Amino acid sequence: MKRIAVFASGSGTNLQTLLGWFPHKDPRAEITLVISNKQDAYALERARQAGVEAVYIPWKKNGREDFERQAQSLMQDRQIDLVVLAGFMRISSDPFVEFWRGRIINIHPSLLPDFPGLHPQQQALDAGVTQSGCTVHFVDAVLDGGDMILQKAVPVLEDDTADALAARIQPAEHEAYPQAVRLWLSGLAFPVPNLEEGTQEFGPGFADVLKSWEAQGLDVAQRQHAVRVARLLKTWDKPELVFAGLHLSADPVVALARSADDLRLGFMTLEPLQDRKNRWEARGRLLERAEALGLKEAFEAALHETALEWDRTTF
Ligand code: GRF
Repeated sequence: MKRIAVFASGSGTNLQTLLGWFPHKDPRAEITLVISNKQDAYALERARQAGVEAVYIPWKKNGREDFERQAQSLMQDRQIDLVVLAGFMRISSDPFVEFWRGRIINIHPSLLPDFPGLHPQQQALDAGVTQSGCTVHFVDAVLDGGDMILQKAVPVLEDDTADALAARIQPAEHEAYPQAVRLWLSGLAFPVPNLEEGTQEFGPGFADVLKSWEAQGLDVAQRQHAVRVARLLKTWDKPELVFAGLHLSADPVVALARSADDLRLGFMTLEPLQDRKNRWEARGRLLERAEALGLKEAFEAALHETALEWDRTTF
């Protein structure tokens, strides 16, 4: 079971949602520890009420180093696997973020890259956009700038106030955050590998992959998709196609892997049940293609978790 630490500075409604999910609705993880830089944060109280260890670590003026040292030692001791920032109103240091690369995520109440930083709802109103929402993303050295995991949109209404918009975004956050954690637990959410990581995983050809992604202007979601496809092809015992996967080539086996990935991701992240139902039920054509390519079992294995999820879905 994976062990999650949640950092929160405020009321902790996101924490509450996550406490409801892990391990009760998804036993692959538990919330092990809640840390706050505010002694009176209601998030700490929510943790205590759920029987979860709740720790206040003061963040004194210029006290980031002390805070992070204490948090790190506690998290090491509790063998934390994932750090979830949920309304944690402090900026972490580069070494802290680097240490947790790929294992630290944040939620922000805007559709990033729009409106990072403070008062994102007011920023959205000032910009006159017609929709906003929330983004779950990996944390890196750029404020609200790490690779995205998923977004949920909500409408911005005429005469909206920042508070009204925040209240409309909040339920979207409560949908998005558990989904993002579950994608992470399934190995489907990760930061795009950098040159070193990609070379280690796929070999020296990865440098060219990065160049071609750049040249084609692939966004983060497309790059993550390409990596998931390449990983699928590895598990399908098609090592010769791994780079074709990274390049999202038109090869029929690569195309099948892409469809499998689209299906499982879409199924996990779509909200309306009817959309999920449609997506799942439309997979017959893909199954036929998989069978024709001698990949029926591989294809079904790739969708195993999605199938379990489907079985648990009630209408
Ligand atoms: C959320 O809107 C989150 O996106 C932002 O801070 C708020 C935290 O809310 N970063 P809560 O403490 O989870 O209720």
